[in-house]
Amino acid sequence: MILIVGGAGYIGAHINKMLNNQGYETVVFDNLSFGHDDFVKWGIFEQGDLGDIKKIREVFKKYPIHAVMHFAAFTYVGESVEDPQKYYLNNLRNTLNLLQVMLEEEVTNLVFSSTCATYGTPQDIPITEKHPQKPINPYGKGKFMVEQILEDYSRAYKFNYVSLRYFNAAGADPDAEIGELHQPETHLIPLALDVAAGKREDLSIFGTDYPTPDGTCIRDYIHVMDLADAHIKALEYLKKGGKSDVFNLGNGQGFSVREVIESTEKVTGRNIKVKETERRPGDPPVLVGSSSKAQNILDWRPSYPDLESIIKTAWKWHLKII
Ligand SMILES: NC(=O)c1ccc[n+]([C@@H]2O[C@H](COP(=O)([O-])OP(=O)(O)OC[C@H]3O[C@@H](n4cnc5c(N)ncnc54)[C@H](O)[C@@H]3O)[C@@H](O)[C@H]2O)c1
Repeated sequence: MILIVGGAGYIGAHINKMLNNQGYETVVFDNLSFGHDDFVKWGIFEQGDLGDIKKIREVFKKYPIHAVMHFAAFTYVGESVEDPQKYYLNNLRNTLNLLQVMLEEEVTNLVFSSTCATYGTPQDIPITEKHPQKPINPYGKGKFMVEQILEDYSRAYKFNYVSLRYFNAAGADPDAEIGELHQPETHLIPLALDVAAGKREDLSIFGTDYPTPDGTCIRDYIHVMDLADAHIKALEYLKKGGKSDVFNLGNGQGFSVREVIESTEKVTGRNIKVKETERRPGDPPVLVGSSSKAQNILDWRPSYPDLESIIKTAWKWHLKII
């Protein structure tokens, strides 16, 4: 059985669905701080907090777990600057609890949700895994520290991991059974869809004077089903004895904020009112990843390369929740 920690959240729930569709058995462990119990439509659900090591032990004793996927974290970069302790306690200390029980129970395979935020402000585009990691906020620093801890553990113990550094996760299950639902929402595509749906008055563009062709920030959007596929490939890779490693997961293409808005208008057929505001501190002009390593080693390829196909799935889901 695969333990999916944080599997009631956006990305974890999509992976849970794909794993079950492919015949894997799963247990979702989530405290529902940000997750949704109605996202756990597949496998078994154990509600619990990673801060509670007794509960983690109980779950490992109860089910024959042979691998773990770890999505649980707080994910708001701005909040991590204002309240770093909250982030280090949950994203770092609580991850140590999970690793402790994995070692006790001799569960040796872990797939970890890392992030492009571990790179900090990029020096070169596209960003490869060899790019220096200089995270600029506690969210990115905590993820980077976990990556380093995993490296130490894999050297010292019988323990293997794959860290997947996602760029911007986007889109939804094409059947629209689950989708992106953060509270509060800070991601561009669901915010743009909220405006299209009339749930929000306008969409803020933070900075229109960046050194990019249209002056707005460029990001790499990767479909959540492509992330799901990569997680299963990473799991299979570890099961076959692949060595511990890190992989970027992105589309390899960058889209500007204005391009996302235009595509959203095209997909929804609705006008999106924008409000141009100041730059946010710490937002690099361009973040685009190279996923060649995942393509070569995990034999993974994104199947939603263009923005419109990503936004179409997000819109289908969004229409269900408005
Ligand atoms: N969404 C993105 O674009 C993106 C990009 C890069 C990395 N990531 C990483 O991917 C992972 C999943 O992100 P998401 O967008 O699905 O976020 P999410 O908030 O939807 O999911 C996280 C889940 O973890 C659970 N959780 C948090 N703390 C917990 C704890 N102590 N015990 C048990 N459960 C706990 C929450 O309830 C939630 O269901 C996170 O680790 C995030 O840092 C996300």
